[in-house]
Amino acid sequence: MNILLTGGTGYIGSHAAVSLIQEGHNVVLLDNLINSDENILKALNKITKSEVSFIHGDIADQELICNILKSNQIDTVIHFAGLKSVAESVKNPIRYFKNNVLGTISLLDSMEKAGVNNLVFSGSATVYGNPMYLPIDESHSLDANNPYGRTKQQIEEILQSIASSNPSWKIVTLRYFNPIGAHPSGLIGENISGMPNNIMPLICKVALKQLDQLNVYGNDYETKDGTGVRDYIDIMDLIDGHISALKFIHSPKIKAMKELDGDVENYHTFNLGTGHGYSVLELIHAFEEVSGMKISYKFEDRRPGDIAENYAKIEKANKILKWNSKRTLHDMCSTSWKFISYMNPK
Ligand code: UD1
Repeated sequence: MNILLTGGTGYIGSHAAVSLIQEGHNVVLLDNLINSDENILKALNKITKSEVSFIHGDIADQELICNILKSNQIDTVIHFAGLKSVAESVKNPIRYFKNNVLGTISLLDSMEKAGVNNLVFSGSATVYGNPMYLPIDESHSLDANNPYGRTKQQIEEILQSIASSNPSWKIVTLRYFNPIGAHPSGLIGENISGMPNNIMPLICKVALKQLDQLNVYGNDYETKDGTGVRDYIDIMDLIDGHISALKFIHSPKIKAMKELDGDVENYHTFNLGTGHGYSVLELIHAFEEVSGMKISYKFEDRRPGDIAENYAKIEKANKILKWNSKRTLHDMCSTSWKFISYMNPK
């Protein structure tokens, strides 16, 4: 297949590029580089032993997108591009709605003009808001409680309307839980420069002694040890989920699923998680075990907007996409550590 990856040099896009190229697809990476670095291309070339095709540009540039879609005979777009900091989205919602929502509308418009109607969208479990029950399944109500999450929710609504309006569209939204880990080569992974908000980059900063200690936000939740519980999923399992979604989109099965899950027949949503929740302390201890490093931490008040516990029901992806997560929490910690050790030699 000829596939365009928007946000192709980002954390998830870069890992997808490797797996898709290794599966034999022709892949074009597009990125505006506001949150990633062109240097990653060298690592991608090294892992894939090929010259990865990269275009520096924005999803909102319709002339560029139409050109890319036509000249590369793209048949499917995997849309990763988007801003992803909850804290920043609270401070600057216009930037988030403009980039994520308007950017996606523009991309969809270009796709329609170019006659490209197959799309896998990088969604987020943040659209569920505070869970009403656990594990969360795909029919759980959507109630994102911050601007970043609302951009993801609005995009889902737009995608559903577009799919309903025109049966040629085939769209899958993958709702990610908490992706962590890195490619097993250790050559690519999550960039930890600047001041991250998510837990794994912060643990890595403590391991590298770039931070004195980790603030653990809350030890009085009603969870196994009082700290927040999340469904951490290995980045490589997450990418395998995209490959399964691609196969699904291009199979006749997509049209036969309506009765099974109540979606519009050409628009489907799937959770990508492991189905298991781990606490912050369990994550810290797993990281300490695989790295041999001590992760100092102190308990702080709960972070505003945080939920106690979150993990996915994954039966839908298991059954329909024939996908399952395989890697353990230790695997995720081990590849994260391998990557940051490679990036920060002693
Ligand atoms: C956050 C976002 C969510 C986004 C997801 C994945 C918020 C409120 N939510 O979710 O919208 O989809 O990332 O990118 O930011 N923790 C600490 N100390 C830290 C950082 C985190 O104890 O310094 C704890 C949190 O309280 C939580 C767990 O670690 O229990 C995971 O946090 P994080 O990685 O930020 O992910 P989410 O909170 O699930």
